[in-house]
Amino acid sequence: MPKSWTSGGFELHLDLEPGVGRRAALERSLREAIRSGRLAAGTQLPSSRALAADLGLSRGTVVQAYEQLLAEGYLTSRSRTHTEVAAVPGARTRTQSRSTSNFSVRYDLAPGNPDVSQFPRSTWASALRHAVTVAADDDLRYGDPRGHPELRRALADYLGRVRGVRTSSQAIVVCTGFTNGLRLISAALRERGGRTMAVEDFGLSFHAEAIEHAGLRTETVRLDDDGLVVDELPQADGVLVTASHQLPWGTRLHPARRGALVDWARDNNAVVIEDDYDGEFRYDRQPIGAIQGLAPEHVIYAGTASKSLAPAMRMAWLAVPEHLIEPIVRIRLLSERQCPTFEQLALAHLVDSGGLDRHLRRMRTYYRKRRDYLLSALATTVPQVRPFGIAAGLHITLLLPDGIEENDVQAVLTDHGVGAHLLSAYARRRSAPPGLVIGYATPPGHAYPAAVQALVTALSKLV
Ligand SMILES: Cc1ncc(COP(=O)(O)O)c(C=O)c1O
Repeated sequence: MPKSWTSGGFELHLDLEPGVGRRAALERSLREAIRSGRLAAGTQLPSSRALAADLGLSRGTVVQAYEQLLAEGYLTSRSRTHTEVAAVPGARTRTQSRSTSNFSVRYDLAPGNPDVSQFPRSTWASALRHAVTVAADDDLRYGDPRGHPELRRALADYLGRVRGVRTSSQAIVVCTGFTNGLRLISAALRERGGRTMAVEDFGLSFHAEAIEHAGLRTETVRLDDDGLVVDELPQADGVLVTASHQLPWGTRLHPARRGALVDWARDNNAVVIEDDYDGEFRYDRQPIGAIQGLAPEHVIYAGTASKSLAPAMRMAWLAVPEHLIEPIVRIRLLSERQCPTFEQLALAHLVDSGGLDRHLRRMRTYYRKRRDYLLSALATTVPQVRPFGIAAGLHITLLLPDGIEENDVQAVLTDHGVGAHLLSAYARRRSAPPGLVIGYATPPGHAYPAAVQALVTALSKLV
């Protein structure tokens, strides 16, 4: 019979299977929790008496389990009454697992996903049927590594119309998600002798890892209220920037800095990678056009279906300056080669038929209501918490009052079953103030009010 024990912000799952002794089951759960980082080095364990009472075990069973794990090196003991988790080689540390969503999450407000329950399934099913019906036999052979010409044409039109991107079907490269695109670009820059890519000092760590994996060094550049501090850009071969809606802060790059960024790229013979991951979702003002429109020869515009449709689409697109098309395509030929053709044709149909526009119109209204609901709940229950980046996108960043400890934030969210990201998980160089990144699109509609309620209740315990 599985049992869960929650105390001090972590959770232990105990499976009392028939045939497995209680002591062995407890030892196994503790080992697993330590290896996975759920119980981080230095975490004090409850007394054997308290744990025995919580789990309905005899105290002797818990004492024996603790002794076994002390002998194995999973635990250390400073005194008879103080047992804590040892630093185990290879175990994930708490810093590595900074997402509160590693715990048992009842209310998932971790950023990254749109509300996938709203995916336009029947429209997509018709688009796929259409694609399979109209595809020529030739379409079923190996195709152009840039992507199917129909989709590249549809995307070039769409991006010009919706995001002010100046490109043509010749310069579009369809890839398997943005991260794949970033890897291709980085490898192409490295091949032509590039060494360094500048990145914002808050962002997704695996994007920096993807760049480094391709052989480039990353250099971190400061952000302020106007976005990337362009004056502080080093000499580099490129810069990755979330200019329309910085992740996680939600700022947009100041208009003067957009021009300065392009000047920097020109002066350094560098390329700006404009990661426009949620550019379709802007609520209170007119959308801001892509920087790429200012200087198509110096900016790679990158869009993705991960927010507008679903991450499972694994489809993204780059509008590439002419001089980089051939190197990027060559690397693509050596790796994934191309995206699946039927899906590309289906996406082209979704764009051309207006299905994507209709879906996005509906989702903008849907997400704006969610955002307003969250802001209102925060203002009513925890006005001390400051929301940032509310004008666009699918996430909001919350700054908590100074002095609040990250472990306490994690503990209180875990106690309330809320999944969210700690702001520090996005910090590349500077330490982060206490804060959270909340994905308000993540839960399905029916679960959203309860998730917001759990969040504000949890936060009210901290402030
Ligand atoms: C900053 C940022 N860029 C890009 C993406 C999209 O990545 P992909 O297209 O690989 O799903 C995301 C998704 O969460 C993101 O947060």
